[in-house]
Amino acid sequence: VSSIAGVLAKVDPWHVEQGESLRLILDALPDECVDGLITDGPYSSGGQFRGDRVQATGDKYVLGRVKLVRPDFAGDTRDQRSFQLWCVLWLTECLRILRPGSPICLFTDWRQIACTIDALQAAGFIYRGIVPWDKTEGCRPQAGRFASQCEYVVWGSAGEMPADRISGRCLPGITRHFPNPRDKWHQTGKPVPTMEGIVEIVEPDGIVLDLFCGSGSTGVAARRRGRRFLGFGLVPEYVTISRDRIAADKQLLTLPAARAGQTPLFGGGAG
Ligand SMILES: C[S@@+](CC[C@H](N)C(=O)[O-])C[C@H]1O[C@@H](n2cnc3c(N)ncnc32)[C@H](O)[C@@H]1O
Repeated sequence: VSSIAGVLAKVDPWHVEQGESLRLILDALPDECVDGLITDGPYSSGGQFRGDRVQATGDKYVLGRVKLVRPDFAGDTRDQRSFQLWCVLWLTECLRILRPGSPICLFTDWRQIACTIDALQAAGFIYRGIVPWDKTEGCRPQAGRFASQCEYVVWGSAGEMPADRISGRCLPGITRHFPNPRDKWHQTGKPVPTMEGIVEIVEPDGIVLDLFCGSGSTGVAARRRGRRFLGFGLVPEYVTISRDRIAADKQLLTLPAARAGQTPLFGGGAG
């Protein structure tokens, strides 16, 4: 059975822990123990007004025509001021647990990008830029307006970042992938090919931390690209999905195929 300690010791290739992220960081993560933070926290977005934000995530983010029911998720009801304060709290702890020079990548949308950049810098990270995730023309077209077809990865580093850290390869500054419904297990799930491009910023065999791992897309990408993975999630249903997905991918099975078979899907996860 895998564990947080097992990943930190580079014994386990991956582990997903159920719990509140800030609590888990404070309880279980020592100084300078991970090599990159790649995370897609709750945007606390999905509307213009406070009343919009406190709706269930399924009402905010799932279009009426979507037939597949995915569970609601947690922590998405903060107004913009409290969202920013909360981000500074956990980001400040992340600066402590990242090895110096490590990258940090935070997903956000057009509503929250400004306060996400502010929070990253307030916590003490060096802000280095934005990688747009272009979801393609099929996403959120609006008659007479620009389509809301992009989300954004705000990125930076824990102090200076040596150019030869990952063999000096140039990484693309944009990612373009449609959120494939056949491999979307969370209401706001990110495409694995997009995540594969993002995890490349972490050194090979380094430990990628995702504090809000949802359905585990970052974990699947990290494993495919030869990085170790530590994921945290609050909602038990999604923790199970994450573990199942990463385990299934390791066996080169799709999640439905793995669930239909006899493979033990529940439990710690590594191997
Ligand atoms: C935007 S989703 C991540 C989706 C993920 N990138 C994927 O592709 O599936 C954010 C996740 O963080 C979880 N979450 C919210 N607050 C949390 C907290 N304080 N600690 C741990 N997880 C939390 C939510 O339940 C949700 O599943």
